[in-house]
Amino acid sequence: MDSKLTGVRAVVTGASSGIGEAAARALAAEGATVVLLARRGDRLRAIVEDIRAGGGAAHAQQVDVTDAAAVADAFTRIADDLAGIDVLINNAGISINDLAADADLADWHTMVDVNLNGVLHASHAALPHLVAAAQGSRGVADLITVSSASGRRVPKPTSNVYAATKHAVGAFCEALRQELGPQQVRVGLIEPGFVATEMTSNHDFGELDALEASDIAETIIFMITRHRRCGINEVLTRATGQVS
Ligand SMILES: NC(=O)c1ccc[n+]([C@@H]2O[C@H](COP(=O)([O-])OP(=O)(O)OC[C@H]3O[C@@H](n4cnc5c(N)ncnc54)[C@H](OP(=O)(O)O)[C@@H]3O)[C@@H](O)[C@H]2O)c1
Repeated sequence: MDSKLTGVRAVVTGASSGIGEAAARALAAEGATVVLLARRGDRLRAIVEDIRAGGGAAHAQQVDVTDAAAVADAFTRIADDLAGIDVLINNAGISINDLAADADLADWHTMVDVNLNGVLHASHAALPHLVAAAQGSRGVADLITVSSASGRRVPKPTSNVYAATKHAVGAFCEALRQELGPQQVRVGLIEPGFVATEMTSNHDFGELDALEASDIAETIIFMITRHRRCGINEVLTRATGQVS
């Protein structure tokens, strides 16, 4: 087993499927101890068992990222159990696309709660641990947020609130980068185009060879395995054939 991340303690939100699951598996394969966080506990436990069966170190935390108190408790527990946190991957997210005229306001609130408030809750809870870990032997800590190509530009009218939440996390992460970089916490944003996951399972890609979750996981590993002086702050990645 390769071991670029041996000794590194990582938390991945939204790790029960898709990009988060792939990121958790990739982190463990590189030697990190990974905590997988999401609502579906059965899915998390099955992935954790599988990672352990392959010789990796993983733990499950069943938490809803919209619940600020539960997130704070979970990060306190994780930091106690692992004696710190070096890496946070903010990945949990949902996408509900309707024209504004047809939209249910509750769906808009849910997207803001998961995609924006969820990132705020996990980042706030992880921040003191990341700052402390950056003073350790690795000399750096990492906060990576999975945004979207829709965080750069609005691809279509139905992307309204989804794109708004992703633009917002981009702004938040840029401010975090400015604040935390001098403390050796790298803040990075990854902005994928179409990725074949549960989120896009109803999407007709046509002839498009969409990105796989593993493509994004590999990019995350690249971002956090650079020399400590090198921060990759923003990565926009689309399927080669994606036009929008
Ligand atoms: N797929 C794409 O084309 C694409 C493109 C650009 C960006 N993204 C972004 O990539 C990220 C991952 O999405 P994906 O494509 O991998 O979709 P996915 O397979 O549906 O994964 C979403 C993950 O978020 C978790 N989640 C949702 N609500 C949550 C909550 N309230 N609390 C905790 N966890 C929650 C889900 O777990 P539970 O349901 O078990 O809680 C699941 O693990 C999202 O931020 C998404 O916006 C995806």
